[in-house]
Amino acid sequence: MKIIHFSDPHAGGPAEDWLAYVDKRWVGVFNFTYRRKYQHDQSYLKKAVDYIIGQKPDLAVLSGDITSTGQPGEFKQQLDILAPLVRNSQIPLMYIPGNHDYYVYNKRCVDAMKHAVKFLNRDRFSFDDLPVKVGLGDCDFILVNESCPTNLLSSCGYLSRKSSDFIVKACSEKKDKPLVLVGHYPIIEDHPILRLRHRLWGEKEVARLLENKILDLSLCGHVHRPYAKTDDRGRGEVCAGSITRNGSVTVINYDKIKDVFNHEVVKL
Ligand SMILES: [Fe+2]
Ligand SMILES: [Fe+2]
Repeated sequence: MKIIHFSDPHAGGPAEDWLAYVDKRWVGVFNFTYRRKYQHDQSYLKKAVDYIIGQKPDLAVLSGDITSTGQPGEFKQQLDILAPLVRNSQIPLMYIPGNHDYYVYNKRCVDAMKHAVKFLNRDRFSFDDLPVKVGLGDCDFILVNESCPTNLLSSCGYLSRKSSDFIVKACSEKKDKPLVLVGHYPIIEDHPILRLRHRLWGEKEVARLLENKILDLSLCGHVHRPYAKTDDRGRGEVCAGSITRNGSVTVINYDKIKDVFNHEVVKL
């Protein structure tokens, strides 16, 4: 089974309404205008779409942060680029929001994020249905939302009790396929103190399942450089990094006969 994993394209733009100046969006707009705009080359998202359509993998995974401040115009910009993958190909696509997609409680922004979840997952489930378990090809996948609006200085995520229990329950059931978690945040955290403002909370039980290989693989983004923390059977965690910052996707192959995952960072 071949999976192409990409993440964190981070479209951005100006404040789209005056309310943006009274919630966190002004921080994100400032950050985009003076920093992200120069770091993220949006042409790579289109290249990723073309690459995936050409490669015809069994699955494409987009692990969040498609926007910078979760505003409707940013979502529209990204859905327009991703539309050929959704509408003109048969390639299954999984998307869960990142902290920049669920950035503020503003209704227009939340509605745009929820629309993106439905559109990119081809109406199979909605944001409010998460977490969900999806069997596809040689693996079972659990999709979770770990993002919610936070204060001005935080990029933290939170794995809710409901999501954690869902994963624990899925891991306790009889398993005939590897179990792959699709989330935005890394579960394995090497620097929990250094990354207090950026890390995932509520992840302890799931981290233990991943460490003990009961949960086979975690696919994530949020960290903008690609990396993998996997063992010799490819079990562990794979972070795709930012497609628009690195110009790369991660190609993951699961060999059912050998029961091994391989991964490779492919430059576009
Ligand atoms: Fe990000
Ligand atoms: Fe993020």
